[in-house]
Amino acid sequence: MESVEKLYSLEGKTALITGGSRGLGKEMAIAFAKAGADVIIVSRTLEACQEVAAEVEALGRRALAYSCHTGRWEDINQLVEDVYKEFNKVDILVNNAGKSPLYDSLADVNEKLWDSVLAINLKGPFRLSSLIGQKMYESDGGSIINISSTAATNPTPKEVPYAAAKAGLNTLSLAMAKTYGPNVRVNSVMPGPFLTDISKAWDESALKKIEQESFLNRGGEPHEIVGIVLYLASDAASFTTGAVIPVDGGYLK
Ligand SMILES: NC(=O)c1ccc[n+]([C@@H]2O[C@H](COP(=O)([O-])OP(=O)(O)OC[C@H]3O[C@@H](n4cnc5c(N)ncnc54)[C@H](OP(=O)(O)O)[C@@H]3O)[C@@H](O)[C@H]2O)c1
Repeated sequence: MESVEKLYSLEGKTALITGGSRGLGKEMAIAFAKAGADVIIVSRTLEACQEVAAEVEALGRRALAYSCHTGRWEDINQLVEDVYKEFNKVDILVNNAGKSPLYDSLADVNEKLWDSVLAINLKGPFRLSSLIGQKMYESDGGSIINISSTAATNPTPKEVPYAAAKAGLNTLSLAMAKTYGPNVRVNSVMPGPFLTDISKAWDESALKKIEQESFLNRGGEPHEIVGIVLYLASDAASFTTGAVIPVDGGYLK
């Protein structure tokens, strides 16, 4: 077996991370750069992407900051065209951008909210993975990682459209693992409660519930997402595809 360092190395790889400007995506961007990858950081806010890109470059890697609404089909087409002009290839794609807006009751969920939640959490990952997955399939292969949620398998009444979208994302991972195998691996990660900007909307009782009802008695720190994505991105996961992996501290089990 090759050395453990080599097994997890991303030397010579190019990674694209949607929602790479903050939260879990930013942690991934920095970790991938430390493992040797060049990184494309995508979100709607160019300045925030540029800040992360500067951190990646400070680690000696190439970086591209790119502003894109990844819930929009046309914008994704343009993103892929521009990225392949700059980098020629993408080896690792992480569909990480997502959101779960609050609502009072299911009857209050309007069409705009429904469409925007499905667009960012499901439609965008489908389009981006189709374009990049096809290119990976036709060249040197790659790894696609979809950041889903434990809401996909254990939904609460506060996140029904989001849960449905993330469940769809899990199905997408399996279907695309079949479509683009054997040279492209596609997997889903289901985070439980992580203490990113998303958690700022949680009230005291929600935080208490996390403490009481998870095996580790706490929410996840953003950097605790790194182990699983580094594994899935690297050769360490060479026999892992079509998997749906929870990283949740044992919350609500
Ligand atoms: N934190 C948790 O507890 C938790 C739990 C389960 C699953 N997850 C999932 O993990 C992923 C990351 O979550 P997080 O907690 O890191 O979220 P976050 O801190 O809110 O960051 C979200 C990221 O997505 C980007 N983004 C949002 N809408 C976008 C759009 N329309 N187009 C492009 N980029 C967009 C944001 O940048 P801009 O605002 O600049 O666009 C930001 O970079 C999400 O898919 C989320 O559903 C999180």
